[in-house]
Amino acid sequence: MKIGMHLVSTVTFWAFWSLTASLAHAGDAAAGKARSIPCLACHGAEGVSDHYLWPNIAGQSEGYLVKQMRDFRDGARHDPWMSPMARNLSDADISDLAAYFSSLPAAAGEGTAQPGQARTCAACHSAKMTATNSLWPKLAGQHERYLVKQLQDYQAGRRADPVMAPLAKPLSDQDVEELAAYFAGQ
Ligand code: HEC
Ligand code: HEC
Repeated sequence: MKIGMHLVSTVTFWAFWSLTASLAHAGDAAAGKARSIPCLACHGAEGVSDHYLWPNIAGQSEGYLVKQMRDFRDGARHDPWMSPMARNLSDADISDLAAYFSSLPAAAGEGTAQPGQARTCAACHSAKMTATNSLWPKLAGQHERYLVKQLQDYQAGRRADPVMAPLAKPLSDQDVEELAAYFAGQ
């Protein structure tokens, strides 16, 4: 299976990537909390948002949060709400914010049936794997419409990532809906 071969090479690549990323700068959660005030209007007081397109960021993998803020700041990921927020963040701000939000308790979903494809996704997105690789995001308990939008953004090239974009491309509209519902419900 194509996805299987892609997995072997990317998993090796990302293991090294996350090691170097995690050695770069240790964030200070207390400084991150102080810096987080402008974020709370959209991402919620405790990093759990009540808007269906604004992601929960509490308890998210630290390395992943760092990469997303850099991607928004540097232009690899675009969003009319979030890009301007990231524009003025320094590398130290980003590390501190990631340390703070990753330390908060994550939201949990209410459970839905597991589609067959979800097993492929769990190779990277299960709790065990996101604990091992800090660059792999947790999807559990995330807003369903937000997850749908992200998969469509990878498919359309509005969001670029060498690992995730090729995995999103072959999904049908129905796959996207079912997988988003499943992970949101975890
Ligand atoms: C005006 C609303 C708004 C504010 C304020 C805001 N964000 Fe966001 N943020 C968003 C939206 C909307 C997205 C999702 C964009 C998309 O669909 O790609 C997002 C995405 C993110 C993501 C990626 C989450 C993921 O799962 O990939 C991170 C990390 C993040 N924001 C951190 C922050 C931080 C830190 C701050 C404060 C400095 C902040 N945001 C302020 C609206 C906001
Ligand atoms: C080889 C590991 C791997 C596999 C397998 C994988 N993903 Fe991902 N996924 C990633 C990485 C890495 C990212 C973050 C990419 C980035 O920085 O934009 C990601 C990001 C995502 C996001 C965005 C999360 C957010 O908070 O914005 C969604 C949604 C997603 N994946 C869904 C899936 C689904 C559905 C599948 C199965 C069809 C899948 N993934 C399979 C590695 C993987």
